[in-house]
Amino acid sequence: MNETSSASRPRLDAQARPFALPAELTVVVPTFNERDNIAPLVQRLETALDGVDWEAIFVDDDSQDGTAAAIRELARRKPHIRCVQRLGRRGLSTACIEGALASASPFIAVMDADLQHDESLLPSMLATLKGEGLDIVVGSRHVAGGDLGDFGAARVRISGLATRLARLVVKADLQDPMSGFFMVRREAFEDAMRGLSGQGFKILLDLFASAPRPLAFKELPYRFRSRLHGESKLDSLVAWEYILLLLDKLIGHIVPVRFALFAIIGGLGLVVHLATLGTLLKLGGIGFAAAQAAATMTAMTSNFFLNNWFTYRDRRLKGWRLLRGLVSFYVVCSVGAIGNVGIAAYVFKADQSWWLAGVAGAVVGAVWNYATSSVFTWRAKK
Ligand code: GDD
Ligand code: MN
Repeated sequence: MNETSSASRPRLDAQARPFALPAELTVVVPTFNERDNIAPLVQRLETALDGVDWEAIFVDDDSQDGTAAAIRELARRKPHIRCVQRLGRRGLSTACIEGALASASPFIAVMDADLQHDESLLPSMLATLKGEGLDIVVGSRHVAGGDLGDFGAARVRISGLATRLARLVVKADLQDPMSGFFMVRREAFEDAMRGLSGQGFKILLDLFASAPRPLAFKELPYRFRSRLHGESKLDSLVAWEYILLLLDKLIGHIVPVRFALFAIIGGLGLVVHLATLGTLLKLGGIGFAAAQAAATMTAMTSNFFLNNWFTYRDRRLKGWRLLRGLVSFYVVCSVGAIGNVGIAAYVFKADQSWWLAGVAGAVVGAVWNYATSSVFTWRAKK
């Protein structure tokens, strides 16, 4: 008999029975390798939210440790638990956005799976949001009564710096813009959602920076708990993505941040080129053409590694893919150089202005290199 036939359908848990009404509150929980935290979290939510019509939507990025299976195992007995599993994609912020989009309830909370956020704050968040007619209530470690918990000294400093940087894009007087624990009214989320960057970890900051009008908010204190199971996913990529999020909010409406980085590195490449060329010629024993060729290779190689490190950190090539990427980058840039010279010569012929011709060639070369290398060298993972 197959598993889904009615005879073998598991009976609902006792806790599942009171949920006769559609959820008023959806708790969105992003997960990546959190298997052992799922059951304890659901149990804590059931205790904390007793008397509330709620559901939890877990958004799992295809964790290898069986997190999605652990969620579905509970979901078969508990209709208020659901799993959205995303294949071939990563990202805490986009996971939260898609979780919110998968729900219909008027209030949406976002909370980590690792038990570091205090679920007992949820009922007062909901009461405050409804009672005071606010757009969003934030669980804060930086208002009276809140606490960073056992964050190490280094992480406290980094967190403080990141919070100050956040002021560049968040105008509201928010003490904990880096919080990953909050509850938002659906309309406020929907008003902001098309402007969200979805970049990296900081979905709350993204919401505040993307809202078309200032959000009415309040911060409620909580103590950041220690992780029991699994490990933090915060790494250098997350830190870099945070900087990209800030840049996107600052200049993204003018030029895509990735292209800006690519162009800056291209400019650095020119410096590398001239420095290499000058040095080789000064050392002597080498003709101009050979020195120019060596300088070109050096500049392309350093550009490749800088782009691999910064512009495409999220798609960083390693091992033999690094070698293949380097070769494809040489090819892309060589074609770009031919286009560059061709366009420049054409403009020069028509206009006779050497600098206009030079700029036109460089712009066409840069756009070509950027567009083709994003497809051939750093193609998005499938
Ligand atoms: N779906 C998905 N995809 N989930 C992810 C991903 C991802 O790529 N990366 C992390 N997560 C999930 C984790 O499984 C966990 O449930 C939650 O996001 C937070 O990840 P942690 O790795 O535990 O982050 P943290 O503890 O260092 O930082 C968290 O708390 C801070 C304080 O509130 C984050 O929420 C920060 O944004 C927040 O500032
Ligand atoms: Mn955590």
